[in-house]
Parts: sequence; structure tokens; C-alpha cells
Amino acid sequence: MEPVHRSVLVDEVLRLLEPSEPESVLVDATLGEGGHSACFLQRYPSLRVIGVDADATMAARGAARLAEFGDRVEIVNTWFDDYFRETHVRPDRVLLDLGISMYHFSFSGRGFSFRADEPLDMRLDTGRGTSATDLVNTLDGHELADLIYRYGEERLSRRIASRIVDARTDGPVTTTKELADIIWQAVPPSYRHGRIHPATRTFQALRIAVNSELERVERTIPLVLERLGPRGRLGIIAFHSLEDRIVKHRFRDAADRGGYEVLTRKPLVPAEAEVRENPAARSAKFRVIERRTEAA
Ligand SMILES: C[S@@+](CC[C@H](N)C(=O)[O-])C[C@H]1O[C@@H](n2cnc3c(N)ncnc32)[C@H](O)[C@@H]1O
Repeated sequence: MEPVHRSVLVDEVLRLLEPSEPESVLVDATLGEGGHSACFLQRYPSLRVIGVDADATMAARGAARLAEFGDRVEIVNTWFDDYFRETHVRPDRVLLDLGISMYHFSFSGRGFSFRADEPLDMRLDTGRGTSATDLVNTLDGHELADLIYRYGEERLSRRIASRIVDARTDGPVTTTKELADIIWQAVPPSYRHGRIHPATRTFQALRIAVNSELERVERTIPLVLERLGPRGRLGIIAFHSLEDRIVKHRFRDAADRGGYEVLTRKPLVPAEAEVRENPAARSAKFRVIERRTEAA
């Protein structure tokens, strides 16, 4: 299997999440195609990896990529908050590389990108839950505007929401192209040729809402901090300010209460060369916290 996704901040992640002893356990809680995990397994020959992914397709792709490492790898297809709520494992290292992978954008066919015309779904766990089509067609104008503003930080959220509400009187909006066209029409011409496509923020907002992304990160950090073994570390790569703010505050709160130390005073960001080779890495911010007290 040829991986589609390019892992970000690999050197920084390997350095800061170096296992504290040879036979430790890393929970890669956002396995994806297993890029980070493969690097860890290669570099640390006695390390074991538990790879978690909510998306069954990604869990399978990650499993295929890591098959060569045999029983050093265990794959769990579930949400990371559910995993940490239920597990008894005391990991030495935990990595969260948030968001979705390039595979999702380019090949999943689930409408994460407006660059192809696809059904508007956006669910990672395709078997259940509310899809982006459900949200776009059932929320009222205020709810839709709030969602687009809150999760997309889109200042034209009201105009966009009201144009969506108008458009759906002709029938439900069910594809990425329909939605992207509605947004294009809703915004002033000056906004159409900015640095990013005018639909970018609305698509991000829908994806975050569909998968409860922020709530899951918020819930998971304290669960992981509790489960970490002594000297255990949690590293999180965030890709937008909403996520990074949660990580920063949760880490700081834990350090203030005692027993944990934030190892990254400022988040680590990709070097220029990485961004040049992989523009998707440009917004990545990596923060790490370490448990200082003995695990209870
Ligand atoms: C950025 S990709 C990870 C890429 C991976 N680190 C690599 O180097 O190949 C994020 C992955 O996490 C998964 N994911 C996102 N949120 C999740 C959650 N709350 N629980 C479990 N998996 C999640 C996505 O399905 C996606 O495959």
C-alpha cells in the first residue's frame, strides 16, 4: 500500500516522544496511514504501538502499512476519547496528530474537500451519527451561522448561512459542489479571490461539528493525563487555533495543578523546508506534556 498522507513534524515528534525505556508502549491515537508509528517502530526495535483510528478505512490502511512489525502492533478502530475512557493500558507515550489525513481529502469520496464533486458526508465513523448533509439541511439559519462562525471562524457566517437556507427551499443540498457554489454566491467578489477559497472555513466548520472534534480533544486530554505512566508524555499536533487553544490551556491547567510539566514553552512548528515540501504542514503546532509524579 502506498501511503497518501505525509506525516508532519516527524523529527520533532521522534525526539520529544522518544520512549523512556526500550520496551514501552506508544499509543498512536490518530493512526491514519501509520506514518509516525512506522518511524517509531523502525527506530525503537522493542517498542510496541497501539494504533487507534475512528475511521475503519484508515485503521485498515494503517494496519496494512504496519503489518511488517507483526505483534508489536495492535490496531483499535474507535474514537480516541472512547479508547482512553475504557483502556487499562498505561502508555509511556501518546501521540495525537489531529484532524484528518490527506487520504480523506483526496480519496475517501466523503466530501471533505470542495475540489471534487462528492456527497456531503464528512463522517469519520461512517456507520453512524449526523452527516454534513444532515446539518446543512436541518439546522435553522441561526444555528448554521453559529456553527460556521464558531468552528470555521468565518466572519461572513450569517450571509453564508442565510444563502444556504434560501437554496434549500429548492430541495436539499447534498453535494460538495452545490455547497461550494452557494458559498461562492453568498460572498462579495472581493472575498472570492483571497488567499483561501471562500468555502474553506465553512467546510472546516462542518467537519469539526460532524465529528465533534473539539469536544473529543477536550475530553481526551484529562483521560490521557490520568492514564500516562510515570514520566509518560502526551504530544499533540494541532492544525488550527481552536484546537491549539484547547491543548495549550489544558496542558497549562494540568501543570498548574501539579504533577505535570509542559515541555514545550512555545509550540514546535515545521521548519521552512518542511512547509515548502508539504504545504499542508504549515499550520501544525506541536505541544508536549510530561507526567512528573508516580502514576497512582
Ligand atoms: C492527521 S491523520 C494522522 C496521520 C498519521 N499520524 C500519519 O503520520 O500517517 C489523523 C487521523 O486521526 C483520525 N482521527 C481524527 N479524530 C479522531 C478521533 N477523535 N478518534 C480517533 N481517530 C481520529 C482520522 O481518521 C485520521 O486518520
